[in-house]
Amino acid sequence: MIIAVDGPAASGKGTLARALARHYGLHYLDTGSLYRAVGQAVLAAGGDPADEKAARAAAEALDASQIDEKAIRTAEAGHAASVVAAMPAVRAAILDLQRRFAARKPGAVLDGRDIGTVVCPEADVKLFVSASPEIRARRRWLELNNSGSGPSEAQVLEDVRERDRRDAERAASPMKPAADAHLLDTSDLSIEAAFDAAVAIIDKAMG
Ligand code: DC
Repeated sequence: MIIAVDGPAASGKGTLARALARHYGLHYLDTGSLYRAVGQAVLAAGGDPADEKAARAAAEALDASQIDEKAIRTAEAGHAASVVAAMPAVRAAILDLQRRFAARKPGAVLDGRDIGTVVCPEADVKLFVSASPEIRARRRWLELNNSGSGPSEAQVLEDVRERDRRDAERAASPMKPAADAHLLDTSDLSIEAAFDAAVAIIDKAMG
C-alpha cells in the first residue's frame, strides 16, 4: 500500500503523513528532507546551491541515513532545497532512492511535491494537502522559533510565497495535484481534524 501526500511548504503534510504511516503501520519518508540535505550539503561545503554541478554531485553522494535533522530545518536550508529541487539532474539522482523506499513492504507513506505525479503515480491513495500562505507562514514561523533560528513572521511569509512560486513554476516535476488526488485544505483544521479527514478519505478509497 502506497499513500502519496503532496502539498506546499508548511501545509501540515509532514505531520499528517507521519501520523498516517503510524496509523496504517507503513514506512514513512519525508522527501523534502532529501532536497534539504542536498541544499545543506552544498552550503556546508561553502558552495552556491544555484551551482548545478555542485548540487548534482551532492545529490549523487546523498546518504539518506546520514541526514542531520537539525541542520536541514533552517530557513537557509529550505531556501537552498527549493533551488536545487528545480534541477532535473538533482531530481533524477534521488528518484530511485524514493522509489526503492516506496517499494518496501508492507508499504509506505511518502510526502513531497511530486509523489502522486512522478515518484509514485501508481500510489493507492493520493492526497494534496494545502492551506493559505498566511496560515502556513505562521506554522513555519512557530516551528523555526522552536529551533531558535529566528526570522520574523513577515520574512517567513515572503519565503513561503517565493518557494510556492519556485515549486509550482519550475519545469521539472512542478508541484501540482495529480488528476486523481484528493484535495485536503487544512487552513481551518486542527492536526487531529486533518488526520480524521485524511483517514476517512483513505478508508473510503481503499474500500
Ligand atoms: O517540504 P519541504 O519544505 O521540506 O521541501 C523542501 C523543498 O524541497 C521545497 O522547496 C520543494 C522541494 N521538494 C520537491 O521539489 N519535491 C519533493 N518531493 C519534496 C520537496
